[in-house]
Order: sequence, then C-alpha cells, then structure tokens
Amino acid sequence: MKAKNGQHVVGLDIGTTKISCVVADVMDDGRIHIIGLGETPSRGLRKGVVVNLNATVEAVKNCLQQAELMAGIDIETAVVGIAGGHIRSFNSRGVVAVSGRDRTVTQEDIDRVMEAARAVNIPNDREILHVLPQEYVLDDQGSISSPMGMTGSRLEANVHIITAASTSVQNLVTCVNRAGVEVQDTVLEQLASSESVLTDDERELGVALIDIGGGTTDLAIFERGSKWHTSVLPVGGDHFSNDLAVGLRTPVPEAEKLKIRFGCALSSQVREDETIEVPTVGGRKPRLLSRQVMAEILQPRAEEIFNLLLKEITTAGFERVLNAGIVLTGGGSLLPGMVEVAEQVFDLPVRHGLPTGADGLVEPASGPEFATVIGLALYGAHHASSTTGARLRLRPGFVGAFNDRLRSWFSEVF
Ligand SMILES: Nc1ncnc2c1ncn2[C@@H]1O[C@H](COP(=O)(O)OP(=O)(O)OP(=O)(O)O)[C@@H](O)[C@H]1O
Ligand SMILES: [Mg+2]
Repeated sequence: MKAKNGQHVVGLDIGTTKISCVVADVMDDGRIHIIGLGETPSRGLRKGVVVNLNATVEAVKNCLQQAELMAGIDIETAVVGIAGGHIRSFNSRGVVAVSGRDRTVTQEDIDRVMEAARAVNIPNDREILHVLPQEYVLDDQGSISSPMGMTGSRLEANVHIITAASTSVQNLVTCVNRAGVEVQDTVLEQLASSESVLTDDERELGVALIDIGGGTTDLAIFERGSKWHTSVLPVGGDHFSNDLAVGLRTPVPEAEKLKIRFGCALSSQVREDETIEVPTVGGRKPRLLSRQVMAEILQPRAEEIFNLLLKEITTAGFERVLNAGIVLTGGGSLLPGMVEVAEQVFDLPVRHGLPTGADGLVEPASGPEFATVIGLALYGAHHASSTTGARLRLRPGFVGAFNDRLRSWFSEVF
C-alpha cells in the first residue's frame, strides 16, 4: 500500500497557463526535499480565476496523479495558491491592554491583539485570506518584531490583511475537492513565490517581488522583514504572445512558440540582421522576419507592465523603501531583456528570482515558473496554517464521492 501524505507537504499551483504540484519531505533545517512533481497545461482558468469548473478539475486530477505516481503516495491535502483580480489588501491595526499582572506579554496577548487587528468590516461577499503581522508597538516603542516576554501595558499590532472574493475561493476549493484532495490552506500566490525566491536580507532591506505569470502579474512589497503591499495586474506573459500574433499576423500558438524561441523584450539587444521564419495563416508560404521587429512588438508591452507596476508602487508610497531593488519571477520573466527593461523603468537594481529552499528532484522544477509551487510547499512546511487559522474546506457531498476515509471521518464528527 502506498504511504499517506501525512508527513509530506504538497503544494498545488493552479495557474492560468499551467497547473503544477510538488510533493516534498520536510527537512530538519526547514528546507524541503522534493519527491514528486506534476505539471499539466491549465484548463478552465482566465486571469487566475476558475471559469470552467469541470475542465479545471480534470486538469488538476491529471497533475495530482503525475505527482502521486512519482512520489509513490496518495495525496490527501495540499496547500493551494490563489490569485486573480479579486484579491484586495490593506493595512490594519489592533490595540489591547497587556493582561498579566506583571505586565509581561504572553502568547495570549499576541493572539488577542491579532484578533483585534483582524476585526475589520469586510463586505459579506469577501473573506480574509491572510493576516500578516508587520510590527508590534509596546507602549511607545515601535518596530518590535516579537513582543513575547517584553514588559509593557499597551500592545499594538500593525498587520497586512489580504482578502478575496468568497465565490472565487470557493470555486477553487471545489475544484481541488472534486479532484479528491482537501485544501490545507489557501495562500496568495505572490506570498508563496516570495517564500521560495527572496532572501531574508532582501525582505529586511526592502524589495518588490514581481511574478509575471501567463494571465496576471503579481506584486508584493516587503520591508523590515514584513509584507506591506500586494496587488495583482490582469496582464501577463500571454499578452506578449497575443501582441506578436496580431503584429505578425500569425496564430497565437505559433506566436507563443516564436516568443519562447526568439523573443526579446529589449530591441537594442537584438542584432539588426537576424531573421526568423514565421508560419502564416491559411497554408501560405512562411515569411522571413527580422528578430528586431519582434522585439519592437514585445518591448512596449514589457514597458507597459513595468510602468503600471511603478505607478502602483509609487501610489502606495513605497518607491523609496526598495533598497534591495526588484526581483522578477514567474514564466513571463524568462523572456530575455525583461531584467534590463525593468531596470530602465524602475531605475533600481533588478534580478531574476529562481526558487530555492528545496532539493531532491529540483532539476525539472528549477525555473522561475516553479517559484509559486515550491513556495507553496515551503509555506506548508513553515506555517502550518498560522496566518490563516486552519479552515476545513470540505463539502461532505463532494468528499463522499471521492474519499471513503474522509467520509467515515465526517460521519464520526457530524
Ligand atoms: N522561455 C520563455 N520565454 C518567454 N516567455 C516564457 C518562457 N517560458 C514561459 N513563458 C511565458 O510564461 C507564462 C507562464 O508563466 P507561469 O508558468 O509562471 O504562469 P502561470 O503560473 O500558469 O500563470 P498565472 O500565474 O498568471 O496564473 C506564459 O505566458 C509563457 O508564454
Ligand atoms: Mg503563477
């Protein structure tokens, strides 16, 4: 019989272009050791949100099966990434009186102040995904990262709250449940990516993580070790392919291939005399095209995305805190020239962010398009639902059809 996944962490990234799954062992030093990997083209998603449930369920099942086969285990629970234009975030604050007689801050005080900070009014159709502590203030002293055991009378917590549309969360959870797996936690995708690509120093100094996926580009800003701002742009790598398809009058799948083989986001990086063959629509003879023309189509899109991000960062008031610059990750960051265009737009140092913190079967999952899924597994290894409060996301109806063990568990509990 195959082992259960109790001792393992499983990350599941349901992206717009691909679905990926990582099964890993947790090591003593907090790193993970990958023992299974699944990857399938994504179906039924648009801009990070499920629009065709059945198609997504099939694709997720397929991906999980690959990972199960490789790891030799049955996957029961997974940490699932969530993204999309419905995500909102804001900063909030909670204040409590330190309760103990000797006025030493205890875990209970910290729990209460976090509870107070998350007690904000959010619309009925939205739910809280994460409450991330930024800093604590004890009496008049601020910038405290862990107040445990310190003395004071008034404890204040500043937090970053991330909310999502309940229906989008539920649809995602339903997909995973129907594929026979319980959702251990839903984690914002750029938060997951940051687990795998950012260093502690960068998070401390101030850094913006930009994850360029297929349908969306996700931004997260860190400073003094905490998260201060997040947002999602509904533009990603697929828009580059669409631009090429229109500009070169070639079908989108061809344009996608051309982009991956010959694309460059900076026209000055391409020699003027380089040419490529472009297949045409309607069975006519392929055309010869200059690579520079391609780059001239791609560059404005890259500039547009980075300018939108720059505006977002400036509006949120963080342009001066990014001392460690910008880190680019996600499949869209693989386009040559992206780092250089980003440097020009932001006027900051920019680097590629590749997933770290994992070993084992890392070779096939070493590219930036796997930053999220490896980050999800790392998140599962490090957090154990601490920022969300574990939510059991099971519907007896769905579960019953797929998992006998869970069905009997439900009958025991309810
Ligand atoms: N070598 C490459 N050069 C240029 N672009 C690439 C390359 N490889 C992948 N891409 C692009 O990266 C995008 C997919 O990135 P990724 O796999 O990170 O997306 P995703 O996680 O499925 O999507 P999302 O995060 O938006 O839900 C596609 O637009 C694809 O064309
Ligand atoms: Mg992604």
